[in-house]
Amino acid sequence: MSASATHLPAFTRPTNLRPFDVRRDLLAVADLVELCFAPTLDSDGYQYIRQMRQAARAGHWLASPPASLEAPLMGMVWVEDGVLVGNLSLIPQYLGSRTRYLIANVAVHPDYRGHGIASQLTRAALEDVRNRGRAETWLQVDQTNATAIELYTRLGFVEKVRRTSWRGWPQTAAEALAPSLRIRKRVDADWAMQKAWLDAMYPADVRWHLPLKTSTLRPGWQASLQRLFGDPRSMHWSATQDKHLRAVLSWQSSTLEADRLWLAADPHDAQPPLADLLAAASRQLRRERKLALNYPAGLAAEAIQAAGFSALRTLIWMRYPWEVSA
Ligand SMILES: CC(C)(COP(=O)(O)OP(=O)(O)OC[C@H]1O[C@@H](n2cnc3c(N)ncnc32)[C@H](O)[C@@H]1OP(=O)(O)O)[C@@H](O)C(=O)NCCC(=O)NCCS
Repeated sequence: MSASATHLPAFTRPTNLRPFDVRRDLLAVADLVELCFAPTLDSDGYQYIRQMRQAARAGHWLASPPASLEAPLMGMVWVEDGVLVGNLSLIPQYLGSRTRYLIANVAVHPDYRGHGIASQLTRAALEDVRNRGRAETWLQVDQTNATAIELYTRLGFVEKVRRTSWRGWPQTAAEALAPSLRIRKRVDADWAMQKAWLDAMYPADVRWHLPLKTSTLRPGWQASLQRLFGDPRSMHWSATQDKHLRAVLSWQSSTLEADRLWLAADPHDAQPPLADLLAAASRQLRRERKLALNYPAGLAAEAIQAAGFSALRTLIWMRYPWEVSA
């Protein structure tokens, strides 16, 4: 990508575009997001919209901002004849001395599409971030959403990773274990390898938004202590083959629709023994709780499907390359 490709030309804000005002706009944004994302919303998505509406009705912003990091408190809206028809949320994540932004909830009312509203909202958001010191800026877009991919690419965003969100249920293995494969509870000695594999499968660039804190998965008393302070509960199983560690599966409780699984395996292992690990895990998991697994797109897909999972969506994670922009 050349520097000129990401140069943000001078941008005059159209009069229809103004900053998002949480007191005034939140209900209308909830309605717009629901309308525009209806075909892809899952129960967590609907819960998010309900939270927006509850927060808007409660109206006590300054006293008690919403617990969710995702709640839109910043961004831009587009107004036509007094009606809010476009939105973009800018979600900050504070990391000590620096901030990272996620662009989300980019939505334009169907009657107003194709006139450059989303492009201008995104341009304005980038300009805001540039004025705040060019903080790291990310967005996620479904790999089937050609219009949005084209729009963001044209503005200079660059694809960094593709990740698939899988959903499944605890279930017993359909097939017998390979003769030399053994499943057991994870032991402390597995952690170094598990941590290295987790770092490869869930690199820092994606971990922050999954969200995965590897410290909550490590064995030992520190992790147990953290759980006393509200970290999720976790359980772990290891697969060994010919006495070598092959993969480690971690389960973590969640308040969302599905509990989380984190699969640590060699990135070159196209067939990690997920079905076998899950069969062992299923004895301790609640059958009625769905399971969510996020994994690099295209990797181990066959093994994940064989363990009874279906792909919910594959998201492209794009970043704005400030480092090469003018
Ligand atoms: C994706 C979405 C936000 C785009 O909004 P939009 O305001 O229509 O976007 P823009 O008008 O800026 O750009 C869209 C298209 O219109 C074209 N366009 C822009 N200005 C135009 C104009 N003046 N006349 C005609 N076409 C124009 C753009 O070139 C682009 O064309 P393309 O689809 O061939 O690439 C909208 O379709 C939407 O709300 N979708 C559902 C929610 C969603 O998917 N959000 C994105 C999540 S990452």
